[in-house]
Amino acid sequence: MGNRPAWDGGILLVTGCAGFLGFYLIQYFLHYAEQLGIRKVIGLDNFLFGKPSWLLQLTETYPNLLSLRAFDVSRDRIEEVDGARDVRYVIHGASIASPTFYRRYPLATIDANIWGLRRLLDFYHDSKQLRGFLFFSSSEVYGEPDPRFIPTPEEYRGNVACLGPRACYDESKRFGETLSYVFAQTYDMPVIIARPFNNYGPGMRPDDRRLPADLAEAVVSGRDITLFSDGSPTRTYCYVSDAVVGYLLCLLHGKYNYFNIGADMPELSVRELAELYRVAGAEARGYAGKVHYETSRDPEYLAHNPNRRCPDIRKARRELGYDPQIDVEHGVRRHLQFLGSAQTSI
Ligand SMILES: NC(=O)c1ccc[n+]([C@@H]2O[C@H](COP(=O)([O-])OP(=O)(O)OC[C@H]3O[C@@H](n4cnc5c(N)ncnc54)[C@H](O)[C@@H]3O)[C@@H](O)[C@H]2O)c1
Repeated sequence: MGNRPAWDGGILLVTGCAGFLGFYLIQYFLHYAEQLGIRKVIGLDNFLFGKPSWLLQLTETYPNLLSLRAFDVSRDRIEEVDGARDVRYVIHGASIASPTFYRRYPLATIDANIWGLRRLLDFYHDSKQLRGFLFFSSSEVYGEPDPRFIPTPEEYRGNVACLGPRACYDESKRFGETLSYVFAQTYDMPVIIARPFNNYGPGMRPDDRRLPADLAEAVVSGRDITLFSDGSPTRTYCYVSDAVVGYLLCLLHGKYNYFNIGADMPELSVRELAELYRVAGAEARGYAGKVHYETSRDPEYLAHNPNRRCPDIRKARRELGYDPQIDVEHGVRRHLQFLGSAQTSI
């Protein structure tokens, strides 16, 4: 991955750079820019959730390397971004990713995944510089998988509701994949689709409202953990550094393809994950909160929420050499440690 010729002298463009995965990706590129030979990183975000202080600090630390711009991918003109024409690698991560927020902003979610993606693909379809274009899709393209397809392989076609509170996200990711496929076939573009499965860890905003963020926030602030379900749905959880290695391997793959990126074990219930955060919090910081269960006042809170989610990652292992390492107990401890550290401001 640190293979210099691939990156050498290249410019990278990252949309959604102010988000959770942006936090890791941008820091990785900047910290290793010299070794990798990265010339410049262009970071674009519409700062829907504000401008994070870690990102502003990076613009001061790396003024010649990081070019940060407020930019809405669904309507602003990429032609006007300095250096965009010379980009070698594009990472399209801009989207609203947390169910609480994509349900609040369904059209903006669709726009980033469809119009935003289309505008980028149009702009880069005839680029001579482009070596890789990574589209962040989602495991949600599988909807509620038939139990015979768990672990879920890439070839499973999904069981997805096109109507309902989650459809803006699930269906726009599905159509984003179709757009990626069509551009790859029509223009021979090196578009790679990553389907992330429940990443967690440092960089998640405490008010992100995805489960690991909620659990960590409750522990760090000393509150009880409230689960708005019976705690039975299961997921596997992939620590962010493992996930980011997977995304970088996708980006460097260099030709059209699609991969599940996540952890293939253990499949934990919401209740079990809450318990891991509670115990890790008790051990590391004397957390004394309890886990309790409530019914959400939002009648659609759990509508179309999949009961099980677990990837088959054999294809990524085989074709990319992807091999996630961090077990979930360790990842949870690291997540809490990061949030408890003084220098954290996300
Ligand atoms: N983190 C995961 O576990 C996970 C799982 C499945 C899919 N994904 C996908 O990976 C990508 C990154 O996820 P994340 O967890 O970092 O999400 P995030 O919500 O933390 O960050 C996304 C960023 O995109 C920005 N954004 C949204 N709409 C935009 C627009 N129109 N123009 C410019 N910027 C815009 C937001 O301001 C935010 O900073 C997303 O596409 C998400 O759907 C992530």
